[in-house]
Amino acid sequence: MGAILFIWILALFKTCGADGCLNVKTASSTSTCFAINECQNQFVCRRGRCINTTGNFYCDCHPGYKSLATEFCRDIDECLNKTACLNRKCINTPGGYYCTQRNGKELSCDQFEKQPGQTLPGFDNLLTLMKDNCLMLRNSSSTGPKGETLTGERLLEVLVNATDEIQLALLNKSHRGGSDVTNFLQTIEVSIRLIAPQLKENFTRMVTNYTEAEILVNRDRTQPKGPVSLINEKAQLDTTWETVAGDEQNYPGSAFVILLSFKTLNMLNVSSSLQSQQLMSDVITVSISNPNSENLLQPVQLTFSHLQSSDMEPDCVYWSEEDGLGVWSGQGCTRVMSNSTHTICSCDHLSSFTVIEGIQSNGLSTVMWVCLLVALACVILSLITTMWCRSVSLHQLQQPGKCMYL
Ligand SMILES: *[C@@H]1O[C@H](CO)[C@@H](O)[C@H](O)[C@H]1NC(C)=O
Ligand SMILES: *[C@@H]1O[C@H](CO)[C@@H](O)[C@H](O)[C@H]1NC(C)=O
Ligand SMILES: *[C@@H]1O[C@H](CO)[C@@H](O)[C@H](O)[C@H]1NC(C)=O
Ligand SMILES: *[C@@H]1O[C@H](CO)[C@@H](O)[C@H](O)[C@H]1NC(C)=O
Ligand SMILES: *[C@@H]1O[C@H](CO)[C@@H](O)[C@H](O)[C@H]1NC(C)=O
Ligand SMILES: *[C@@H]1O[C@H](CO)[C@@H](O)[C@H](O)[C@H]1NC(C)=O
Ligand SMILES: *[C@@H]1O[C@H](CO)[C@@H](O)[C@H](O)[C@H]1NC(C)=O
Ligand SMILES: *[C@@H]1O[C@H](CO)[C@@H](O)[C@H](O)[C@H]1NC(C)=O
Ligand SMILES: *[C@@H]1O[C@H](CO)[C@@H](O)[C@H](O)[C@H]1NC(C)=O
Repeated sequence: MGAILFIWILALFKTCGADGCLNVKTASSTSTCFAINECQNQFVCRRGRCINTTGNFYCDCHPGYKSLATEFCRDIDECLNKTACLNRKCINTPGGYYCTQRNGKELSCDQFEKQPGQTLPGFDNLLTLMKDNCLMLRNSSSTGPKGETLTGERLLEVLVNATDEIQLALLNKSHRGGSDVTNFLQTIEVSIRLIAPQLKENFTRMVTNYTEAEILVNRDRTQPKGPVSLINEKAQLDTTWETVAGDEQNYPGSAFVILLSFKTLNMLNVSSSLQSQQLMSDVITVSISNPNSENLLQPVQLTFSHLQSSDMEPDCVYWSEEDGLGVWSGQGCTRVMSNSTHTICSCDHLSSFTVIEGIQSNGLSTVMWVCLLVALACVILSLITTMWCRSVSLHQLQQPGKCMYL
């Protein structure tokens, strides 16, 4: 439609000559000519940047699009390149492409099914959109999806907007509950895992008022190696591409790693949880393309910066879906280091993490009790030693060197 309109405008343009004039015909007016900036036309260079030159213009197309006859940008069908997905099925998407197993097994669109009793605003719309996108990818033939589809970037924008809206709703007392948090975290994670391979750029960052998303995609033909880090305002993820990509034998030709940060979940007192610990940092979700992230061979390292400087002993925790409700659990996560402003955690599985005030924050910790006892023992020992030395040196004045060692 846009293209047709544009060609029509271009045809008018041609009738006017090369001096940058546009012949406008409307019902009420006859031909008028005026100098124009071609780039102001919204149909010029869609999916690209219009560059205005004297009396002319050209399109600087977004990645994944190529300039066609200089007037507009058209999607590149990456799947025409037979090696795009190695030996997997290639689906061309707007601005990108998606590699899927022949049977589309990893595209289980049922995970975007609406949950009965779900009342969080924006939640159902998000699920519908994601399910449509998932079905579109699964139903696509190798020639690509039919009709207008959203780009990965646009989908991500919709997702982070919805994430903001749902976080605000979760703060509202009437919505608060462990199962809501579980639903929220799960849905966001499966959604962003669907979106990540559809992103064109190798690095994407999207920040809104309450959500921050960083996604790194690697499309090297061979499995990438070496360390990889993602950093946002409150957290840092350190891992390796080997962990991210998983089993080298089954390397699918691309790998991605995601770091998401939720800025208001720390204000949430989950009513179903027996715990009442205060969160000391933002809640983050970490996800990788390796589907086997339940038991990582190499633990990932998470560095949290505290919301407020605190001398409390932090616990590294993840959101565990016990009883279908959800609680913060420390299983599989250990604290590597902690000071007043930062805590470093090491975790052998992935999901959503944060640091909370330690359970033993009231009174003296075990470590302090041990120290106190050791100190007391030292004092008593030195007293005994002194007394013993004194009595020895009184009887054996000719050998005072003996006590020097004590
Ligand atoms: C675009 O080109 C037109 C014609 O040369 C000129 O009048 C206009 O100032 C240019 N606009 C920009 C933004 O460069
Ligand atoms: C296909 O993609 C590979 C890797 O990006 C590239 O080396 C090759 O030249 C491409 N082939 C064609 C025909 O574009
Ligand atoms: C995908 O295919 C299923 C059946 O295989 C069909 O029910 C569904 O409507 C299709 N969805 C789209 C978006 O084409
Ligand atoms: C997301 O929210 C921003 C800010 O409110 C808005 O400008 C943008 O259009 C929204 N995007 C989508 C896809 O809804
Ligand atoms: C909280 O939820 C209730 C019921 O859904 C709604 O009436 C109220 O306006 C909400 N409050 C805020 C601050 O969103
Ligand atoms: C993204 O890809 C470009 C080339 O395609 C490369 O130069 C750059 O280092 C990559 N960035 C990251 C973060 O991997
Ligand atoms: C983000 O926060 C600013 C300042 O609090 C507010 O003005 C703006 O409307 C917010 N945007 C959205 C999309 O909620
Ligand atoms: C959560 O609980 C803490 C203390 O337990 C309280 O200070 C805070 O106001 C509560 N937050 C909300 C949103 O109810
Ligand atoms: C706490 O540890 C972090 C990470 O190692 C470091 O960057 C920061 O400077 C430390 N802060 C203090 C107050 O020692």
